Amino acid sequence: MRRDEPVRYVCADCGHMTTTRTGRCPSCGAWGTLDAEAGPAARPRGAAARVVSAVDVRPPQRLSTGIGELDRVLGGGLVPGGVVLLGGQPGIGKSTLLLQAAGRVAESGASVLYISGEESEAQVALRAARLGVASDRLLLCCGNELEGALRNMKDASFVVLDSVQAMRAEGEAGWPGTPNQVRAVAQRLVDAARADRVPAVLVGHITKDGRLAGPMLLEHMVDTVLIFSGEGYSSYRMLRAAKNRYGSTDELGVFEMREDGLTAIEDKSGLYWNRSDTAVSGVAMTIALEGTTPLAAELQTLAGPTVFPYPRRTARGIELNRFQLLTAVVEKRCGLPCSGHDLYMNVAGGLSIQDPSADLAACAALASALRDAPLRTGSCWLGEVGLAGEVRPVTRLGVRLREAARLGFSCAVVSSRERAERAGGLEIVPVSHLDEALALGFSVREKETSI
Ligand code: TYD
Ligand code: MG
Repeated sequence: MRRDEPVRYVCADCGHMTTTRTGRCPSCGAWGTLDAEAGPAARPRGAAARVVSAVDVRPPQRLSTGIGELDRVLGGGLVPGGVVLLGGQPGIGKSTLLLQAAGRVAESGASVLYISGEESEAQVALRAARLGVASDRLLLCCGNELEGALRNMKDASFVVLDSVQAMRAEGEAGWPGTPNQVRAVAQRLVDAARADRVPAVLVGHITKDGRLAGPMLLEHMVDTVLIFSGEGYSSYRMLRAAKNRYGSTDELGVFEMREDGLTAIEDKSGLYWNRSDTAVSGVAMTIALEGTTPLAAELQTLAGPTVFPYPRRTARGIELNRFQLLTAVVEKRCGLPCSGHDLYMNVAGGLSIQDPSADLAACAALASALRDAPLRTGSCWLGEVGLAGEVRPVTRLGVRLREAARLGFSCAVVSSRERAERAGGLEIVPVSHLDEALALGFSVREKETSI
């Protein structure tokens, strides 16, 4: 064994592992039972190579958390031995979500271990009672000592550890929350979960700039990183995967924090849509995709004569550069004067759109604001717009059109290069250029007045 390789000391009696040699096992109290064992890095190097086709690739048997939205973001449920890191700002609802999931898993007949280093037994139990979580199979372990807590893991089918910053790993230097401790806590949980093939969720805090607190290594150690987020003023919470070894990172889960805990929002389309009955100028609808989830998004634009030497451009929910670029396209290719106007664009409901398929809706909203005329009622706009003013196809148009039809839109303006199928009662309006789209997309009232 090389001198610089890490050494672990393992108790011959209880199997407890520590990095410092002590005369007495800190776990079971036996004397003289700790023996040096090579750490992971010091095992014989290079495991035997195998033929790739001989590796078992059967999909793992997943454990449902009982919360459909959480399962979907995970890629279909928890994976045995897989460790999920759930990050989010304090107070966002991480503990609530996990206690609810723990309760559901326990109700399904599996035993669950909920370790809380942040709250007392009474606090967790009170919350469980408020959330209606009551099961004999849900075991609670409160305290900061990781090793002691993990010893309860033997019969568990699912483990929650709240949080990585609150726990203390035995034999590691530093206070809980220091990089050394965070790394050790995470590594020991990962080892324990892998060894017992038990799925585990680890809670992690997020710093003010939105990064997971603790060493960068933390994200590499776990299989899945989920980020739970939400605006301070809103009761909606978004769950996204930042990394997922067992599924896609595209899925979005939406929850609402209510008096009785988090409720999954399965029909997300209405979330960002005012459904105003009266046609308003400067408003265009699109169906954006968040992962595989279609979301109806309402783009709103306001235009007013400027008093500044440089007209103002403000965008919320859409990238400012993209908005400025589309402004230039509308001005140049459709002859609508923008330079004398202050222009403001907002995506209703605090939604943030990265999807370029919203370009056409943004241009339509802009044109509608500049002309001060509403767009065709019940229209939605799906297309990417190029610098030449050409309207390009979008990804997964079929999904978007079906959603538009389901929501009761009457027409969809799409690129003529799409092979769009009529969905339900939705009329398809194919266009090749922005100019053409704007000629077809205004309401009858505006057409009459503009003649
Ligand atoms: P919590 O799960 O403790 O957040 P985290 O673990 O991410 O720090 O959530 C705390 C917030 O949620 C708190 O402000 C109160 C609110 N809340 C509700 O609105 N309803 C509920 O049923 C629960 C349990 C919490
Ligand atoms: Mg908490």
